[in-house]
Amino acid sequence: MRAAIEAARAGLNVALVSKIYPVRSHSVAAQGGINAALKEADDWENHAFDTIKGSDYLGDQIAIETMCREAPGDIHELERMGAVFSRDADGNIAQRPFGGAGYPRACYLADRTGHTLVHLLYEQIIKYGVFIYDEWHVVSLVHEGGVARGVIALELKTGKLHRLHSKATIIATGGYGRIFTTTTNALSSTGDGMGFALDAGIELMDMEFVQFHPTTLKRTGILMTEGCRGEGGYLLNSEGVRFMEKYAPNAKELASRDVVSRAEQTELNEGRGIDGCILLDIRHLGKEKIMTKLSQIRDLSIQFAGVDPIEKPIPIRPGAHYSMGGIMVDQNGSTSMTGLFAAGEASCVSVHGANRLGGNSLLEAVVFGRRTGTEAARFCASNDYSPFPDSKLKEAGLMLGTLLNRTEGEDPAVLR
Ligand code: FUM
Repeated sequence: MRAAIEAARAGLNVALVSKIYPVRSHSVAAQGGINAALKEADDWENHAFDTIKGSDYLGDQIAIETMCREAPGDIHELERMGAVFSRDADGNIAQRPFGGAGYPRACYLADRTGHTLVHLLYEQIIKYGVFIYDEWHVVSLVHEGGVARGVIALELKTGKLHRLHSKATIIATGGYGRIFTTTTNALSSTGDGMGFALDAGIELMDMEFVQFHPTTLKRTGILMTEGCRGEGGYLLNSEGVRFMEKYAPNAKELASRDVVSRAEQTELNEGRGIDGCILLDIRHLGKEKIMTKLSQIRDLSIQFAGVDPIEKPIPIRPGAHYSMGGIMVDQNGSTSMTGLFAAGEASCVSVHGANRLGGNSLLEAVVFGRRTGTEAARFCASNDYSPFPDSKLKEAGLMLGTLLNRTEGEDPAVLR
């Protein structure tokens, strides 16, 4: 959506094709925050250093510099669009500590940051007249002579296949967390964009790096935001011990996610769990703080685990959360195919390396979404429109028919 806004602002006719209603996109589940070095005591270099270190030094340092330098401008723009960020006592945008961050730099809207930003961007795409194809599921990318020409999409309500011709195509279909049993990801996070990009011969990158979030709710895997620990929550084992003191004596619960998840798994493997879970204790934060800053967490914990965190610790465990890898792109979202761009979790500009810091995913989507929209508009201005033939629709229909009707071969459910 951020890319669509920028392309529309540049005067293009933009269509957004989404297999779900855009406001149900999985970014709504990014609860805890979006990073930017806003305060005088912090600066973009600190943010970049933390991001590089958190990535196990495998992130692309130039892209990280771009993201961290541009972050404050994007936060202020989101605010001007209407994002009412939580405030500190002086009325400035409040920032909470997050794992692996040397300074409190996660801007937030209580524990509904992604939810609010997704709705905000949706308002903006309506304002800019972006045409929305809701519940149209892209099944293939059309390319001719190494140039992307558009997509074929299945209209879910009617089962009809449609051709969508375009000068430029941006893939922003999110990650593939649903391949794991325990995941924070929505049912829609099935990596479709990476799949049809790969089918079209486009390079993917860093696919071996999948982030496991330390605090996902027992049984369902629903995210219990890192904001719980950012606000001062503890992790306890079955002996009531704050075990992170042993694994990360300085950062403790706010070590980077890979460190905390591995520590939890070690505790579980060594028999110090309770029913396969660790405990996230926020009782000492008090009712008022929980009700104002973590009210959604309380609701989710009550509804889905029967535990009121004001009274009892929340049973959690590590769960798949984020696909660091994706479609290989440069800092302007260009892929290895002319006319094809990618942004957000579906892409890999490699700002996260082997481990993403909390609060950097919404940021990546906003910063590189904006840059990708600009680049797609620039590309359109100097390239001709060339609709693709009907035969591409027939090919897609045949491919789908074969998949749906075959009685032999690999079973997708079993494969998953
Ligand atoms: O824990 C969280 O609130 C998640 C945020 C993120 O993945 O960036």
